Amino acid sequence: MLKQTLEEGRKLADAALERLLPPAEQRPTSIHAAMRHSVFAGGKRIRPILCMEAGRDVSGNLPAGIEELGAGLEMLHTYSLIHDDLPALDNDDLRRGRPTCHKVFGEAIAILAGDALQTQAYEVFAGLRCPAEARVKIIEEIAKGTGTVNGMIGGQVVDLEAERIKPDAGTLEYIHRSKTAALITASLVSGGIYGGGSPEQIRSLRDFGQAIGLAFQIVDDILDLTQSSEQLGKTAGKDVASEKATYPALFGLDESRRKAAILLDSANRALDGVGASANVLKGLGRFLIERQN
Ligand code: IPE
Ligand code: IPE
Ligand code: MG
Ligand code: MG
Ligand code: MG
Repeated sequence: MLKQTLEEGRKLADAALERLLPPAEQRPTSIHAAMRHSVFAGGKRIRPILCMEAGRDVSGNLPAGIEELGAGLEMLHTYSLIHDDLPALDNDDLRRGRPTCHKVFGEAIAILAGDALQTQAYEVFAGLRCPAEARVKIIEEIAKGTGTVNGMIGGQVVDLEAERIKPDAGTLEYIHRSKTAALITASLVSGGIYGGGSPEQIRSLRDFGQAIGLAFQIVDDILDLTQSSEQLGKTAGKDVASEKATYPALFGLDESRRKAAILLDSANRALDGVGASANVLKGLGRFLIERQN
């Protein structure tokens, strides 16, 4: 059941991405090849899948065209990874089992490929097949989730500034909620809006996203310490080497695992009012905590 959700969600998102990204032969070919190199390197497609399942959850069916919203979210996520890997940020050589974008195409094209995935995403959002009012709300939600005020870029800034210092628990939580949970939350909430969810349903999805998104980054930190580069498709042990502010660094592995489990419980409780179909989202939440890569 869960395997099927993941499998089908990934296929839908991949087909939409294939359709919505300019072909590699489109001039200027270097940037289109770079965008495709990073997008089609085999990510888990978690954000589109959460978005689509949120839409299904509030409306009872998979809303027509929601995979395009999912594809736009994956473009934004991939842009954040390309920039995260740049020498000026985390300086990583390996991503999704491939050499990073800047390793293959050079730094200038990698920076521009990230920028281009962002603008392409908003072009996709502008064309979403939902009522105009919902479309505007979706764009606002996602722009905020990836912005500087409690959003992805804000979190990335404090993540970099917290290297080599021991941050307090509040700062660490701010980093993780902003750099990772905010886009995961925006994925769920935008899917719920696309599906025509009620304000109560949207509130539940938001609470679920904030809890599961924080747990997701705690688990990312745990996996960095406990898995191999081969298993992760990205350089393992990187957080220790660059003295990153992580949950295991501040609390240890066991306490970090305990915190992730508590967050999963509270995420599930947030969905209690949503209806029977929330079981799929709860299953996805568990998968995000138990994953091995
Ligand atoms: C990695 O995200 C970056 C974080 C926000 C932790 P994912 O673990 O979803 O990476 P992909 O998309 O599967 O490569
Ligand atoms: C990245 O966090 C979060 C982003 C917004 C990209 P990390 O730096 O821990 O992600 P990985 O481990 O490189 O995937
Ligand atoms: Mg980083
Ligand atoms: Mg990184
Ligand atoms: Mg990490």
